Amino acid sequence: MSVDLVQPKLIIHGGAGGHLQSKGGQEAVRQVLHSVIEEVYPLLLDGKSATDAVIKGCQLLEDEPLFNAGTGSVLQSDGQIRMSASLMDGIVQRFSGVINVSRIKNPIQLAQFLQSQEDRVLSDYGAAELVRELNCPVYDPLIEIRLQEWIQERKGDFQSHMAGVVAEEELVHPHEARRGTIGVVALDSQGRLAVGTSTGGKGLERIGRVSDSAMPAGNYATKYAAVSCTGIGEHIMDECLAARIVVRVTDGLALKEAMLRSMKECRERKRDLGAIAIAATGAIAWGKTSEVILAAYHNGEKIGDTVDWTDDDLIGYQF
Ligand code: GLY
Repeated sequence: MSVDLVQPKLIIHGGAGGHLQSKGGQEAVRQVLHSVIEEVYPLLLDGKSATDAVIKGCQLLEDEPLFNAGTGSVLQSDGQIRMSASLMDGIVQRFSGVINVSRIKNPIQLAQFLQSQEDRVLSDYGAAELVRELNCPVYDPLIEIRLQEWIQERKGDFQSHMAGVVAEEELVHPHEARRGTIGVVALDSQGRLAVGTSTGGKGLERIGRVSDSAMPAGNYATKYAAVSCTGIGEHIMDECLAARIVVRVTDGLALKEAMLRSMKECRERKRDLGAIAIAATGAIAWGKTSEVILAAYHNGEKIGDTVDWTDDDLIGYQF
């Protein structure tokens, strides 16, 4: 049976939070996001699956030290890095993920492996055991700026509740709360949706704290829509945001409306978060209650981004 081909779509993010400190910082983020889109979108044009594109995009973003996932992850209160990641295939509607895993380069690869397993979400010891079983090379994702950020917080007796959303050279406002995560949503040429999200967490959190990024609250897809969230994990969980937007679209609401309604509710409850989404119709949307969401997309014609989108509109939309 032949399948009608559709125009692939792609959207990625590198976190949400407060304004970036400098124009240079904005440009650096824009460049990285665009280069990831430039590397991943052609895979979709070549007929690769949405899941393959999402995994590749997440790996590239995890490898980018600017962002709080994989290399460049923030440190928790005890000075350790523990990362979480998840993957959801919208067509088979299957979720997999790892919670608080250490010493690995690409947590999204563990989520990929777990897609085919009976036990699909592993935490702490179980995730460490899987890393050992798969013979993943031991890798230290720590970068100097994150270490300095933590040392500075330690000197200030951990006044901040979170680390910075991106690793910036100048720690101008070290006490400003910002949030980081990476995420990728793709629609492939066969109309299949997938989503992946990966994070180093909030930074400075208690040992054992669980991020939304490896829960359906932060990363969810059906065959109708796929959503990746970023921001304060507890706020995202309280809203069950990714699943909420997806279910609204699955029940017949247009993506733009589903994103807008959900963001309005989040703003009313003073949440601090953002989300990116694609619907099976090919619609792309992003939303935020925080000051910025660092996202870029390919709409089939061109690349666009939201890096300097700081106005009060709750959502943006492309078809
Ligand atoms: N959204 C990332 C976290 O709070 O862990």
